[in-house]
Amino acid sequence: PTPAPAPSFSISFNSVPANQNDRVTVPTGYEVNVLLKAGDLIVPGGAAFNGSFPTPGQAENWAGGNHDGMELFAIPSVDPNTAGLLAVNFEYPDFNILMSDAEATAVQANPAAATATQRQLALSAVGVGVVEIQRGADGKWSVVANSRFNKRYSGNSNYRAGGPAAGLLSTNIKGTLNNCASGRTPWNTYLTCEETTDNYIDPSQPAENYGWVVEIDPFLELAPPTKRTAMGRFDHENTAFMANADRRVAFYMGDDATPGCIYKFVCDRAFSATSRAANIDMLDVGQLFVARFNADGTGEWRLLQQGQNGLVVGARDPGNISQSTTPPTPTVVDFRNQADVLINTKSAARVAGGTVMDRPEWITVAPDNTAIFVALTNNSGRRVTDATNPRVTNRHGHILKMRESGDSPLAGSFTWELFLLAGDPALASGGANLTGNINGDTFSSPDGIRIDPQGRMWVQTDHSVPGTSGVTGVTIDQAFGHNAMFHVDQKTKQSKRFLVGPLGCEITGIAYTPGLTDFFINIQHPTGNWPVNGEKPRSSTIVVTRTDKQPVGN
Ligand code: FEO
Ligand code: CA
Ligand code: CA
Ligand code: CA
Repeated sequence: PTPAPAPSFSISFNSVPANQNDRVTVPTGYEVNVLLKAGDLIVPGGAAFNGSFPTPGQAENWAGGNHDGMELFAIPSVDPNTAGLLAVNFEYPDFNILMSDAEATAVQANPAAATATQRQLALSAVGVGVVEIQRGADGKWSVVANSRFNKRYSGNSNYRAGGPAAGLLSTNIKGTLNNCASGRTPWNTYLTCEETTDNYIDPSQPAENYGWVVEIDPFLELAPPTKRTAMGRFDHENTAFMANADRRVAFYMGDDATPGCIYKFVCDRAFSATSRAANIDMLDVGQLFVARFNADGTGEWRLLQQGQNGLVVGARDPGNISQSTTPPTPTVVDFRNQADVLINTKSAARVAGGTVMDRPEWITVAPDNTAIFVALTNNSGRRVTDATNPRVTNRHGHILKMRESGDSPLAGSFTWELFLLAGDPALASGGANLTGNINGDTFSSPDGIRIDPQGRMWVQTDHSVPGTSGVTGVTIDQAFGHNAMFHVDQKTKQSKRFLVGPLGCEITGIAYTPGLTDFFINIQHPTGNWPVNGEKPRSSTIVVTRTDKQPVGN
């Protein structure tokens, strides 16, 4: 197999030491500002969170909770380095600003018993928010309060479905939820990814309505928000696209589950670079593939099309073969038509021979199409290994690098290599599968991964807190510090810690201005005294800038 060329960058910041401070730590010469907290107003009307619990109508105008994936869109004829539309996912409610702790505990433990108001409140805080933002004369970013683009898409609002399985879904689907990470299209729409295949807050809603990629036009010109069924139904993490010179495009996607496969969706047609409206059904018409990895560093994309690759009536799904040395009993699944394949994508992928991975989180595509990286966050339950998932009890995860044949989004085959194994040499007493091979600053549980337009690769972590490092008596925060963000050089593989989060949080979401002077990053589910000392902790979007206004990382 041909290894992908690996760019290397000088990077001038000094690593931030691992720490357990209850604040955001960045390198000397960088500063942090909070842009959008859970409970801040997105849609004008009513009050922002002020310490009192809201009515459902009030909460519907707020930024939801557990900020996750996000994308920044340039507004035509406005300098994109000073303004834009920021679309942000809200993965889960920040319950602490919606209802009492006792109510929140009860709702989460038994959603079926929640009152209508509790349910509405919880569903108000998931979904997506779009805000116009601008940089002021002082260099600080803020939300434009009365922008006509500011909008909430929540667990209470309505969605339509497109693609081959649309007929099996409700005509007016209530809610998008568990909006984990995100992606965008070449025609500048936002893709929000549903990471659960049911509505865990409102069990009365049919399960088939969830677990999709949802396309939203932040400019409000194209279709209303649409669940794109052709892209499959599973625990969607994010999407990352690769386009070629002929404007053909593939979207890469991971199923964050044990087991979970890696997919790509290839649109049948070329997209239009001149007419946004011509792309309105691009994501409804195309082919869905699952990745099968061979031990020799090659791999193939297997088509998930009814009638092919075993996807027939009476197919046998091998099930969860990675988690036990005793293989489970296969289950019989009937794939009568393409809608069956799309509704049961996880099963179809296993039937077709897809490789089950250690929880694929984000995928990113290099700007020159020569590499695709996948964060495989961890899988402490893995008992049966393979070449791409080489560690039993994979507590700290790994990063995989792939390269399409001909660097083409239309390729039927690819090559792959293990890029790095996460962990820390200091954990050697717990066994070699905890030590990893990171060159430089170590981490556990890579989750967010994105190569910026200059080719620099950023990795964000989500190790569970509280949690163990794998060595008795050593917590995961003691081993690695709080969750953090790293620059990892693609050639030298040197890892440098760029940012460390406050207590209890995960670091996720990366967006930037085109000039890379401003990075937008999400602090999800902090549990201490952040972002406002003395107030309840709230998930928030922050902006990281260099005090000398040079590009981040240069
Ligand atoms: Fe919502 Fe897989 O992270
Ligand atoms: Ca994630
Ligand atoms: Ca995660
Ligand atoms: Ca999360």
